[in-house]
Amino acid sequence: MAKTHVTMKVNGVEVEGLVEPRTLLVHFLRENLSLTGTHIGCETTHCGACTVDLDGMSVKSCTVFAVQAQGSEILTIEGMANADGTLSALQEGFRMMHGLQCGFCTPGMIVRAQRLLQENSRPSEEEIRIGISGNICRCTGYQNIVKAIQYAADKINGVEFKEAAE
Ligand code: FES
Ligand code: FES
Repeated sequence: MAKTHVTMKVNGVEVEGLVEPRTLLVHFLRENLSLTGTHIGCETTHCGACTVDLDGMSVKSCTVFAVQAQGSEILTIEGMANADGTLSALQEGFRMMHGLQCGFCTPGMIVRAQRLLQENSRPSEEEIRIGISGNICRCTGYQNIVKAIQYAADKINGVEFKEAAE
């Protein structure tokens, strides 16, 4: 099948590659660029494990063709750490609040939560739960994921995080 040349910026780096028209963005990221932090859970837009940020929107990269991302700016989990290599507020939140177990959903959760906090830096618990409703976690029951995002929101806002009584 004829291949198309695509270029895009991924985690601040200009990348290019030859892809078939049917190549999904998640496969381009994982196979052409070896960015395997973006996971594949379902390939049918249900689980959110493949979530990346594309031009300021959370998208499920199993539902975008690589050719559709031509010229886009993409952020994946590999681009989430602070510039000096330290953990971002969200990464720290997931670590401190035990927001993961098997970790399969975690890259998509963190990328999604990053966009959520950019859209709303002080989300309520309900807004967090709605905001991550496209991302499925089979392990945690979500409570610690919500806490991790609250932790990050407080850190970003310079507020000391206090866990709500359960
Ligand atoms: Fe894309 Fe599940 S792998 S939504
Ligand atoms: Fe296992 Fe979320 S930590 S699926």
